[in-house]
Amino acid sequence: MMPRPAQREAGAGKAFRLLTLGELGPRQAAALVRESVWLKSRRPRVTRLAGRTMAMVFSKPSTRTRVSFEVAMTQLGGNAISLDGSSLQVSRGESLADTARTLSRYVDVIMARVYDHSEIVELADHASVPVINGLSNSFHPCQALADLVTIRERKGRLSGVRVAWVGDGNNVCNSLMHASALARMRLRIATPPGLGPDPATLKSASKRTSIDVGTDPQAAVEGADVVMTDTFSSIHDTDPERKRRLLRKYQVNDELMSLARKGAFFMHCLPAKRGEEVTPSVIDGPQSAVWDGAENRLHAQKALLLSILAKGAIS
Ligand code: CP
Ligand code: NVA
Repeated sequence: MMPRPAQREAGAGKAFRLLTLGELGPRQAAALVRESVWLKSRRPRVTRLAGRTMAMVFSKPSTRTRVSFEVAMTQLGGNAISLDGSSLQVSRGESLADTARTLSRYVDVIMARVYDHSEIVELADHASVPVINGLSNSFHPCQALADLVTIRERKGRLSGVRVAWVGDGNNVCNSLMHASALARMRLRIATPPGLGPDPATLKSASKRTSIDVGTDPQAAVEGADVVMTDTFSSIHDTDPERKRRLLRKYQVNDELMSLARKGAFFMHCLPAKRGEEVTPSVIDGPQSAVWDGAENRLHAQKALLLSILAKGAIS
């Protein structure tokens, strides 16, 4: 992590930030989900972000986050600039703090995909414009927000919906715990020993809803309305082979899906590795909601950007 300078610019770090979904309240999350569903169903022509620019900083690869945010800005009348971390001066040692200060003088909002979560905190602490986490090693709030939209549109409600997470207790799982707490979904997590979710997030999310953490995928999926998983090894994992070995028994296949409720559906943030964490029969089968899930990134992020930039707050 870069050293913290003694002085900050006036206004730095005071702007809105969405670094984890823990920063939202239940009413704000519900409003964003409602707005996303409305934007998706009505497809209104909204150009309220005309003249506004988003900087998107990517230290890691991305398909969905990059394209959905850029399209969101374009459809709302604004524009987005995609910046590859390796082509910025940070790659030559400029601090994230100075990068945040500089970008804040040009753009209206910064979205960044980083490695260590402290990097997005550092950006937000020194930016004077809103900062959105587009994935860190620890959290993926925009994914979880879109997941709420997908579940809401398929189930017609969120409260009481039973969600099973099978696999690595990773960044997507951590944000799902926040989302479950906000929407009062009942979450059961099955991970191999040692790959459980973030204990502090589990503790705080468990104050608002029921979250069970165990090691048995069958027990987690039994009676679930939604079954979710993610890739065995994340971008930041240093030993993908070890992860594959540990997670071998955590594949979502037809046998596992048969334990879920009738009408249950399957979600995956993507990218997926067929034959590893999920079989083609599930991800490409009738229970799969993955393409709706990918699309909903666009609608959820439009709602988020409108709230931050046009309304000035998430109400
Ligand atoms: N789900 C998701 O964030 O996808 P990308 O890594 O392609 O952005
Ligand atoms: N857990 C995955 C999510 C990718 C969208 C990763 O961090 O690589």
